[in-house]
Amino acid sequence: MTPRAIVFDAYGTLFDPQSVGRAVAERVPAHADTITDIWRLKQLEYTWLWTAMGRYRDFAAVTRDALAFAVGPFADLPAADLDRLAEGYARLTPYPEAASALSALRDRGVRLAILSNGTQAMLDAMVGQSPLRGLLDQVISVAPAAAYKPDPRAYALAEAALEAAAGDMLFVSSNGFDVSGAKAYGFRVAWIRRSVPVAAASTTYALLRQQDERLGYPADHVLGTLTEIAGLPDL
Ligand code: LAC
Repeated sequence: MTPRAIVFDAYGTLFDPQSVGRAVAERVPAHADTITDIWRLKQLEYTWLWTAMGRYRDFAAVTRDALAFAVGPFADLPAADLDRLAEGYARLTPYPEAASALSALRDRGVRLAILSNGTQAMLDAMVGQSPLRGLLDQVISVAPAAAYKPDPRAYALAEAALEAAAGDMLFVSSNGFDVSGAKAYGFRVAWIRRSVPVAAASTTYALLRQQDERLGYPADHVLGTLTEIAGLPDL
């Protein structure tokens, strides 16, 4: 059965959040990898904590907060520098195969969307400056739900926007928590498991996200790259 739509996570799945590491390295060269690592892990932790507290703080603010936390032990950067680094999230680099993989799926008539924790402004800016511009039918932010993934209210936005049931759509993420969350919600799920040899991984985040989560709700498909989506037997 051809899915009516494919819903992609953004950060870590289509766009490389580690690409902000280059800007961090210009500011704090001696600790750039550690800061970039803590930044991403703390950013995700804050999304879960805000949601668990029943409160919402938008992803641009959460991203800036997590950066300030990560830099704290290593450098005393002025607020304007933190602002500039955090704004780098609007200019992340897509993974090398992302544009060709999405083009190939579009050519087969599959509708393509992003469902991301990012604010609408962050996502629109990031997609707009990238080669993925024009390849996505919808770019959906969780902001209207005022809850972050894996809260079911966030995933429900994709069903509403695409007017399709989760079970008829494929959800694609490289983030283990998002894979389990989307599967628990009811999507068919493909995990993009980007493997990095231990010696080549600059950050703990890069290593951790290739591990199987112990959360239950495993993916239906485990793929190495976005290009492999087109080869799924039920696509
Ligand atoms: C996102 C984060 C989870 O794009 O990567 O929503």
